[in-house]
Amino acid sequence: MSPIRPAILNLAVNGIAQVAGLGLGDPDIVPLWFGESDLATPKFICDAAKQALDDGKTFYSGQRGTLPLREAIRDFHKRTIGRDIAVERISVPGAATLAIVTALQCLVESGDNVVIVSPIWPSAFEAAAVVGAEIRFARLEEDWNAGRWRLDLDKLFAQCDARTKAIFVCSPGNPTGWVMTQDEQRAMLDFARLRGIAIVSDEVYGTLVFDGAKHAPSFIEIAGEDDNLFVINSFSKPWAMTGWRIGWLVHPKSLDAQMKVICIANNTGPTSFAQYGAVAALSPEGDTFRATMLERCRKGRDVVQDFVDRQNRIRWMRPEGAFYGFLKIDGMTDSLAFAEDLLLRARVGVAPGSAFSSPGDAAADSYIRVCFAQDTARLAEGLKRIAGAI
Ligand SMILES: Cc1ncc(COP(=O)(O)O)c(C=O)c1O
Repeated sequence: MSPIRPAILNLAVNGIAQVAGLGLGDPDIVPLWFGESDLATPKFICDAAKQALDDGKTFYSGQRGTLPLREAIRDFHKRTIGRDIAVERISVPGAATLAIVTALQCLVESGDNVVIVSPIWPSAFEAAAVVGAEIRFARLEEDWNAGRWRLDLDKLFAQCDARTKAIFVCSPGNPTGWVMTQDEQRAMLDFARLRGIAIVSDEVYGTLVFDGAKHAPSFIEIAGEDDNLFVINSFSKPWAMTGWRIGWLVHPKSLDAQMKVICIANNTGPTSFAQYGAVAALSPEGDTFRATMLERCRKGRDVVQDFVDRQNRIRWMRPEGAFYGFLKIDGMTDSLAFAEDLLLRARVGVAPGSAFSSPGDAAADSYIRVCFAQDTARLAEGLKRIAGAI
């Protein structure tokens, strides 16, 4: 008998990694597969981290993030969402991915389930699987007439039972670019309160919205400080810091003491000098950089729109936020095989739609995801290769 948990033995590498494994690092490939921009982290952020290294900031520091960083995060929320949250509610365990694991560790015991709004970035449900949760998907539906994804809350609520510990939702969505409305958030919060279910809200693309708002609707605006709400955030996307592995978690105030222990158990806090870079990212200069990143995404979205308009087999629901094109290719039934073929024959890396949903979701297999936070010429070249292959 193996001592390894069945949940671990059952883990399998997701489709994005499978495709990337065939060509990662090959300079001939146009890489649109991962969730990151092609911009390197801006110099002022790197300089702050370098200075910290030169100053000997190489020791353990703040088990759940240093106080200056947590205060700067509080101020960021004040600026973007207009809410003044207590620093006791803010923890920096490491990257957002670890923040998700941390939130789920607070919630899930063996036999519990997590209801996840899909299509969704696979690490979210992989994290749920790792902590031992049963995963239930509540799929967004295509509303081609309205041109946007639609969440059927009744269907989602019907997925919940006595063993449901959390609803996981990501808005703006990866891969869909769907943005949840505040009314939908209120309805979800009301239901969750009534049933004693937590909400894990992944808001890492919160400021990457195209409607001119400072931030997409956030659960932070409507929840109280002791609601069972866990909001995930990250420096990775708006500040081009994916390799830094730093993000944060806003959690119930009542978990102040416990969160310190969990953060110690998981990683004894984030990397010391990375936190100095993160504080710099939250400065006014960082706000200016975020605007540059948003503009890059807006231009990238226009390039994809232009491409879609010229294709007769490709459609999309124009994203309201984040930086992905989730492209439906009429007639395609095996997105993994298609993505592998695209890579080997057309030299362009895309993520297969099947990676973002439950294995039984046939509709997902007619999609691919491309990241458009890229140089427009390179993005256009990648899209041209996709068109050629089709
Ligand atoms: C929705 C979402 N949340 C979290 C992350 C990961 O953030 P981090 O790099 O901080 O782990 C990603 C990365 O693709 C993402 O798309």
